Amino acid sequence: MNEERNGLRVLVTGGTGGIGRRLVPVLLRYGYSIRLLVRSPLKATQLFLEGVELVPWRGEQELPGEVFAGISGVINLAGAPIARRWTAAYRQEILRSRVATTYALSRALCRLEGQRPAVFVSVSATGYYGDKGEQVCTENTPPGDDFLAQVCQQWEVAAWEAAPCVRLVIARLGIVLDRESGFLARLLPSFRAFAGGVLGSGAQWVPWVHWQDVVGFFLWALQTPTAQGVYNVAAPEPVRLRQMCQMIGQQLRRPCWLSIPVVALRLLYGGLADALCASQRAIPERALREGFRFRFSTLSEALQYELQ
Ligand SMILES: NC(=O)c1ccc[n+]([C@@H]2O[C@H](COP(=O)([O-])OP(=O)(O)OC[C@H]3O[C@@H](n4cnc5c(N)ncnc54)[C@H](OP(=O)(O)O)[C@@H]3O)[C@@H](O)[C@H]2O)c1
Repeated sequence: MNEERNGLRVLVTGGTGGIGRRLVPVLLRYGYSIRLLVRSPLKATQLFLEGVELVPWRGEQELPGEVFAGISGVINLAGAPIARRWTAAYRQEILRSRVATTYALSRALCRLEGQRPAVFVSVSATGYYGDKGEQVCTENTPPGDDFLAQVCQQWEVAAWEAAPCVRLVIARLGIVLDRESGFLARLLPSFRAFAGGVLGSGAQWVPWVHWQDVVGFFLWALQTPTAQGVYNVAAPEPVRLRQMCQMIGQQLRRPCWLSIPVVALRLLYGGLADALCASQRAIPERALREGFRFRFSTLSEALQYELQ
């Protein structure tokens, strides 16, 4: 059980996104106060009414020390959405919005004089591993070489720059399951319209994780002084995409009968198609070993919770 922390203040970037919208209310409930670095204060005001302080920030711009005043932990979620067509310009945006932002935070943390936040939690993704087929990926598995794998490596290098100055936790997130946002939310309309199916062969492994476990991991990382370094944040039992889609169909009492070939996906989404078909059998070896408990270990429990 996570402890309540009255009065501790957490700085969050990308807090208006799918994960941030889940994280911020839970942090508030646990007694943390929140300072959000946001590109659009108006959007943030519409999402979070009370207990959240907003600081406008364009991402890569240098951060003054005052932004960290009274901050005990930093959670870095910022990044341009992946699920768009990847033009050459958009690939640059995916990269820049993560790497430049993370360097700006790391460098600002190391420039601080006097008291620094105790912990910097920066996200990355299991996309780090590229397409590993049947291989089980632990935190020690070498990176892949596709575009997302390169983005994740550079993103993590930017975060490592803060390691000499604060306790650094890098969360390599799997595909976050949430009926409100992200991968699952995008699949649901086609299933509801009796047009559910798999992307590519369906044989690829999907490193899914329920949003409550992502939020739980962030709380654990904030509160566990020994947590440090890279963690796969994906449920202990990854599944193949075909199995996932069939289970979604069962939960919704809808068929899962379509199969969208990679060639068609490439026409629709460009390079994103290959990322959708990459196989990452990632397991959370370090988190389990160090005592983090997943609330949702099996996909059937997670989908039942989200879809019933
Ligand atoms: N959801 C998943 O399944 C998943 C899996 C693996 C990794 N991740 C990573 O986890 C992070 C959060 O995920 P999410 O699903 O919450 O993402 P999201 O819904 O796309 O939100 C990301 C947030 O990043 C900020 N942002 C967007 N475009 C930006 C840009 N061009 N430059 C700087 N900041 C920008 C926005 O916050 P403001 O407008 O408030 O600035 C936005 O709310 C992302 O970096 C994502 O890549 C997510």
